[in-house]
Amino acid sequence: MPVTAIVGAQWGDEGKGRMVDWLAQEADMVVRFQGGDNAGHTVVNRLGKFALHLIPSGIFNPATACIVGTGTVVNPETLLEEMAALEAAGVALDNLWLSNRAHVILPYHRQLDGLQEAARSGSRIGTTGRGIGPTYADKAARFGIRLGDLIRPAYLRERLQLHLEQKNRTLALFGAPPLDLEEVTAGCVRYGEILGARIVDTLPRVRAAVERGDNVLLEGQLGVMRDVDWGTYPYVTSSNPIVGAASAGAGIPPTRVDKVIGVVKAYSTAVGAGPFPCELDDANGERLRLVGAEYGATTGRPRRCGWYDAVAVGHAAWLNGFTTLAVTKLDVLDGMRELKICTAYRLASGEVIDWVPDTPDMQDATPIYETWPGWSEPTTGVRAWDDLPKAARAYLHRISELAGVPIETVSVGAEREQLVTVLPGEADAGRTAPRHA
Ligand code: IMP
Repeated sequence: MPVTAIVGAQWGDEGKGRMVDWLAQEADMVVRFQGGDNAGHTVVNRLGKFALHLIPSGIFNPATACIVGTGTVVNPETLLEEMAALEAAGVALDNLWLSNRAHVILPYHRQLDGLQEAARSGSRIGTTGRGIGPTYADKAARFGIRLGDLIRPAYLRERLQLHLEQKNRTLALFGAPPLDLEEVTAGCVRYGEILGARIVDTLPRVRAAVERGDNVLLEGQLGVMRDVDWGTYPYVTSSNPIVGAASAGAGIPPTRVDKVIGVVKAYSTAVGAGPFPCELDDANGERLRLVGAEYGATTGRPRRCGWYDAVAVGHAAWLNGFTTLAVTKLDVLDGMRELKICTAYRLASGEVIDWVPDTPDMQDATPIYETWPGWSEPTTGVRAWDDLPKAARAYLHRISELAGVPIETVSVGAEREQLVTVLPGEADAGRTAPRHA
């Protein structure tokens, strides 16, 4: 399929980076289309283990053009750190390009992120503190600085003058010292000098790749439940992780996106505050965290863990029009006696719904579960559908059935090869195991 989008179907951290790493072996181009270095894609391959924050996970394949797209926000400082870490591991970065239209995260955006979070006191979002919200806010308010500005010093100074007048007013409200125009300009010019050769108009490259019929992957960050429009606002990020944003953020007509892979973890996790109905505050939750190594790749925060939420994934399936699902981390469930799948929410009013309501209702929602038998056999060595334990096949089949989307792959470990490719129709064979409850 020439143009494939890979997006998160839950609260983020579904394992998109891992899937992109796998698919990028065959890809001519990978485009990150939204978000910034708040992302934390853990990729394990023969070169080592990497926590990628902004650079597309296709970077390990030198033949894959990797584009940090227009819809992203770029912190030059952390980008340079990430580039240095990859170079130190022997990854050549000749295939990395940055959109001149992507917006720049500057140090005071991070500062403002922290100040705004502190000001929210009791209702903190739990942001990653990476300056994502303030940078997208500047973009929407049309005061933003873009990567292309960094390589035009005179224009940059003009933009910064306007920009800093605004920023200094805001910083003053927080009692923070003002920013110096010359100092900020000098810092930005330095970034421009280092990154300049990679800052290009990415659109002609992306367009040519699509028109040639190249394999193009569109890599999303986070998941639908953190979407600024469709997630649990205000406990969301400041961009749209859904596939509609892939078209805008990468510069590809929606009608040219051929395939949309929804990445779902075999259970639920979330970092940050906000409603998370299936959260487990018990030994099962702790077990998922430990066995699944559920700690934020960007912040190191322990992730909130819970049962699989088919309501949230159904929301994602509709908004994204998934053509297939990639289920990740199935092996983490090995050895659990029984598993639960949330199929509906009971609201505080008593009403039972099978869709995601707005945040105040979601906050009080209690999950309604089905119970499924677990399996004791390890799945980490399994590479074929038929070799999965019967109960695992039944569980996966139910996930697929509830989402209304066929499963294409199932990951059973972090290594690139620990993947079960599901042949069309094969997942239906799992329908045999009985549900008990
Ligand atoms: P921000 O994107 O840093 O503004 O954070 C907004 C919300 O998204 C918070 O709940 C964060 O914990 C969450 N978030 C941001 N990036 C990630 C990620 O890569 N994985 C999981 N959660 C994230």
